[in-house]
Amino acid sequence: MKKMLMVSSALALGLATTAAKAEPQAEVLHWWTSGGEAAAVKVLMEEFNANGGTWTDMPVAGGGGDAAMTALRARVLSGNAPTAVQLKGPSIQEWYEEGALGNIQDVADAENWDELLPEAIQYHLKCDGDYCAAPVNIHRIDWIWANASILEDAGIEPPKSWDEFNAAAEKLQGMGILPLAHGGQAWQDATLFEAVVAGLGGTEFYKKALIDLDMDTLKSDKMVEVFDQMRVLRGYVDDNFSGRDWNLATAMVINGEAAFQIMGDWAKGEFIAAGKEPGKDFYCSSPTGGGYLYNVDSFAFFNVDGDDRQAGQKLLAKLTMGKNFQKVFNLNKGSIPARLDVSMDEFDSCGVQSNKDLGTAIEQNALLPSYAHGMALRGAQAGAVTDVVTAHFNSDMSSQEAVEQLAQAVAASQ
Ligand code: BGC
Repeated sequence: MKKMLMVSSALALGLATTAAKAEPQAEVLHWWTSGGEAAAVKVLMEEFNANGGTWTDMPVAGGGGDAAMTALRARVLSGNAPTAVQLKGPSIQEWYEEGALGNIQDVADAENWDELLPEAIQYHLKCDGDYCAAPVNIHRIDWIWANASILEDAGIEPPKSWDEFNAAAEKLQGMGILPLAHGGQAWQDATLFEAVVAGLGGTEFYKKALIDLDMDTLKSDKMVEVFDQMRVLRGYVDDNFSGRDWNLATAMVINGEAAFQIMGDWAKGEFIAAGKEPGKDFYCSSPTGGGYLYNVDSFAFFNVDGDDRQAGQKLLAKLTMGKNFQKVFNLNKGSIPARLDVSMDEFDSCGVQSNKDLGTAIEQNALLPSYAHGMALRGAQAGAVTDVVTAHFNSDMSSQEAVEQLAQAVAASQ
């Protein structure tokens, strides 16, 4: 009798201890699987584990995240959502509207997020006024990456407009050098397209075309010019581009098999992971003029049961916005911190330029949320634009036909 009592009080004590100190757990779904991406996410995994958490990694390979989003939907539909998910832009609010997301306003209040984040990006992270996602970075999309020795040998400066890019590419082609490394996947075609829209059309044109989906703008002569430029770019790409992953295209520039890649600054993460230095081994320049095309990677927290998983969400939200994490993650990832108070001292020249251009763009109302990376449009509308962009890029469709199809596809998606 006495023995039984002792056992049950020990059990009760054990249970009480467990209840009081839930061990933070997080199953984290993301698509950071390339060299630079994996090095970056490892920083968070290590911090999470060092702070008493247990991280279960759920990487779903596939640049741009399409495969990850399919995996997410399957998990949510089966009633088993991951604890934290790499999400961006309006898809955060779409999941919230489906009733799937939790709220992390208590962490945001305790850590003062409203003071720490640029006002211009806060709305991406809030659902009905409360924080429902924690940002890790700000990526710039409209970059041209260049192999430094190819450019030097050819006497070419890093291009700062599409005209300069075309002139450089023509010269390189004449010398038998492949101008543009491109991966043939729809999201990569879309990434080129939005950089052309912003560079050729300018900030207001981009906003009317890819944020407002204004019909007159979508059907305009300027949009015909945009598709003309896409056709020109297609001519600078090799025959084997179809299906190529973005990081393999970056490797072509790193290895000197091609001069340029047009890609967001996660590509810089690949150069850095390969031990390359900006200004010496590679260059970054933007073809956009005053605008700044961006996306913000963040973790959104799904409704989950269990004190341990809920504790994991709070710990992850807190660490994600930690000052040191925002620095170290972004040094690896190629992006810049979302937090305003992180010193840029340790960042390279591309990071410093990105930070400076971001500030100017905020002042000049020229911040452009990326449509290709899910920041500007809801899923159906972005998909409608991308279908036409990729169909045009991968066929001999005329620019006029592309513009007509674009207007029809967008109208049908509304
Ligand atoms: C994400 C980046 C990622 C890239 C390539 C983008 O949409 O924002 O974090 O590195 O896709 O997968």
